[in-house]
Amino acid sequence: MTDFTLPALPGALDTVYQADALALLAALPDASVDCVVTSPPYDNLRTYNGYTFDFEAIARETYRVIKPGGVVVWVVADATINGSETLTSMRQALYFVDTCGFRMHDTMIYEVAGTGAKGSNFAYWQAWEYMFVLVKGDIKTVNRIADVKNKTIGLIRSGRWRNDGSKEKPHETNAVGVRTNIWRYAVGFADASDKTGHPAPFPEKLAEDHILTWTNPGDVVLDYFGGSGTTAKMARKNGRRFITCDISAEYCDLMNRRLAQPYTPSFMALLDAAQSPEPSATEAAA
Ligand SMILES: C[S@@+](CC[C@H](N)C(=O)[O-])C[C@H]1O[C@@H](n2cnc3c(N)ncnc32)[C@H](O)[C@@H]1O
Repeated sequence: MTDFTLPALPGALDTVYQADALALLAALPDASVDCVVTSPPYDNLRTYNGYTFDFEAIARETYRVIKPGGVVVWVVADATINGSETLTSMRQALYFVDTCGFRMHDTMIYEVAGTGAKGSNFAYWQAWEYMFVLVKGDIKTVNRIADVKNKTIGLIRSGRWRNDGSKEKPHETNAVGVRTNIWRYAVGFADASDKTGHPAPFPEKLAEDHILTWTNPGDVVLDYFGGSGTTAKMARKNGRRFITCDISAEYCDLMNRRLAQPYTPSFMALLDAAQSPEPSATEAAA
């Protein structure tokens, strides 16, 4: 691990660092991060110029820097070697839980739409990756996304019986309901992250949907395998603070160029900024 120094928080936020993930983590104070949304190099699927990472030390340090109730989203898949899956993802999930102390909040699936036939001729086409959602203690933020159109929209429901024996009033079905834990995203031309020049970006919406679900405006979102900067870009767009790094100078340049593009904050981020009270003279001076 190379020497790495980080300015004190919050001065260190909203910046891209060229650093080993472990070096960045080691420089962060205990309980300073609300959420990690990241994706490590998968097995040896891509070599990233030969860079390696110390998974176990990174997992332990991640637990230290996450605030109580904070979430880690770990997007990962396995290589298939000699016809068998490595199961590295599962070993990592177990290490996070059994050794580090995280709880497995949800094993979610990222369904990768639009890749076509991918994988082995001796198995079904590979169409998904894990999104392990790990939490330190009791989860502090859950804003579930309700965007699944209800087929019965507008119909009057007679009202269900509750456990206490009372009955719901008849009501119209909502236009939308909460999603399942399988999230489907198109890759390829449908997603802006594919045009970054990085070989393995995750979709912008994937990062955005996790950030919206597990954090609130102003929270600190970390991605220590930053790649093309998808997590940082979506955190900033949604009024969160980010901190990110990549070991590769080339990808740090890519991130900085991507983040230098003009952007429009999301409507909710604008609304939140408008509603935040101006800091008092004493707060501003502090
Ligand atoms: C799967 S990619 C992440 C892609 C990213 N989610 C995006 O949307 O662009 C993994 C990244 O980890 C970086 N990496 C590999 N070893 C690393 C290490 N030890 N520390 C920090 N970054 C590392 C690679 O350079 C690569 O860009």
